Amino acid sequence: MAVIAAKCPKIKVTVVDISEKQIAAWNSPNLPIYEPGLQEIVESVRGTNLFFSTAVSETIQDADMIFVSVNTPTKTSGIGAGFASNIKNVELCARTIAEVAKGPKIVVEKSTVPVRTADSIKRVLKSASTQEFQVLSNPEFLAEGTAVPDLIEPSRVLIGGEQTPGGLKAIATLVSVYANWVPNERIITTNLWSSELSKLVANAMLAQRVSSINSISALCEQTDADVDEIARAVGSDMRIGSKFLKASVGYGGSCFQKDILNLVYICESFGLPEVAAYWQGVVNINDYQKRRFAHKIVQSMFNTVTGKKIAIFGFAFKKDTGDTRETAAAFVMKDLLAEQAQMSVYDPKVTREQMLTEFKYTLDITPETTPNLEKLITTETTAAAAAEGAHAIAVMTEWDEFGSLDYKAIYDSMAKPAFIFDGRNVLPHGELEAIGFEVYAIGKPHTKIF
Ligand code: UDX
Repeated sequence: MAVIAAKCPKIKVTVVDISEKQIAAWNSPNLPIYEPGLQEIVESVRGTNLFFSTAVSETIQDADMIFVSVNTPTKTSGIGAGFASNIKNVELCARTIAEVAKGPKIVVEKSTVPVRTADSIKRVLKSASTQEFQVLSNPEFLAEGTAVPDLIEPSRVLIGGEQTPGGLKAIATLVSVYANWVPNERIITTNLWSSELSKLVANAMLAQRVSSINSISALCEQTDADVDEIARAVGSDMRIGSKFLKASVGYGGSCFQKDILNLVYICESFGLPEVAAYWQGVVNINDYQKRRFAHKIVQSMFNTVTGKKIAIFGFAFKKDTGDTRETAAAFVMKDLLAEQAQMSVYDPKVTREQMLTEFKYTLDITPETTPNLEKLITTETTAAAAAEGAHAIAVMTEWDEFGSLDYKAIYDSMAKPAFIFDGRNVLPHGELEAIGFEVYAIGKPHTKIF
């Protein structure tokens, strides 16, 4: 919304939320999320044509167009628990809009939703109001860490709507908003259902590429092939392409897991078990990769990490974000916790409180379920401090700074033999080995037999 406000000075954008705390943060110098470039954009338009408010009803009444941008997490109970998306918040928004609207509105689904959600929104709106509503689907394709450039120069903008005169008119209205800065050929219009489903398919296909290369990383470690060399050789075929072929400890983030599970659920519900199983395979490989990494750590360190200190470099699900949702780091640490390892975590953007919240919500790990949790997981404010006295370093996030630390000094401060497990393949492995480290990297040949 900040980018729309910045690119469309004639449009008044008001962001509303029922959380006073969130809105206060958006109105303060300390925005509630970290995203490179966002602060500058918000500050350039806040108070001019971008406003943050808790006045939900008044703002709905004033608006011609309403973007529903609430979260749709995986359901934790009831039908489809663990797979289906919970669209309760989307429905609540639709009910509020129907209740307070005094004129025609275009309601835009921005949240990622299961295919055919627009139908439910439409029925809720119609049953509770006599106003004229058009529902559009306009999924968001930005990635965290690069959100601002992704929005300023999107690969495409997708707008789906009903193929009726009213629907087409609403589509044209939203197209005219984006046309302020997005070239016409990058604005794709489709029917509602194609647009809703495209978002799930895009994320499923991206995640599938990561799982594909990660599955090959396991084979590389058995055959002395190098997964980065394979990614380069394979990715230079234009038909395959070079992006999203970086082997890792596993994908995380708020979208991939949730959207694939949702796709799996939808396929099951429509009686397509073979299709569901195909996409479930992407999730299975991701789980396997995270487990495999933890096993490798234990196995390499003489089959025991009990009481040993392991420095965890990075906790965010990728670099340049403080977001920890579904981060692979938490899953690997869970397995190491089960082995009673002592872990010292450093992440430049993640607070201890946030890390413990992730453990609680995704993995049900709390001081109650794991009594010695506070003792086994500590946090530090530098990578060097986390590594001091440690038996091993495990790199979980590809923060740039990890590539250029003073590894000689770090090595000298560690217990020997000193191990490094590079879950992102971002460290200078040759140099580290020359210093004396035992290096294990995803999908790389081993130069030393442990
Ligand atoms: C993703 C989609 O990219 C975006 O289009 C959609 O709108 C939301 O979901 P995001 O979750 O922010 O964005 O991050 P992304 O860059 O896609 O990375 C997802 C995960 O895959 C991260 O954990 C990342 O480290 C991992 N990844 C990505 C790899 O392990 N290897 C790769 O080659 C690429």
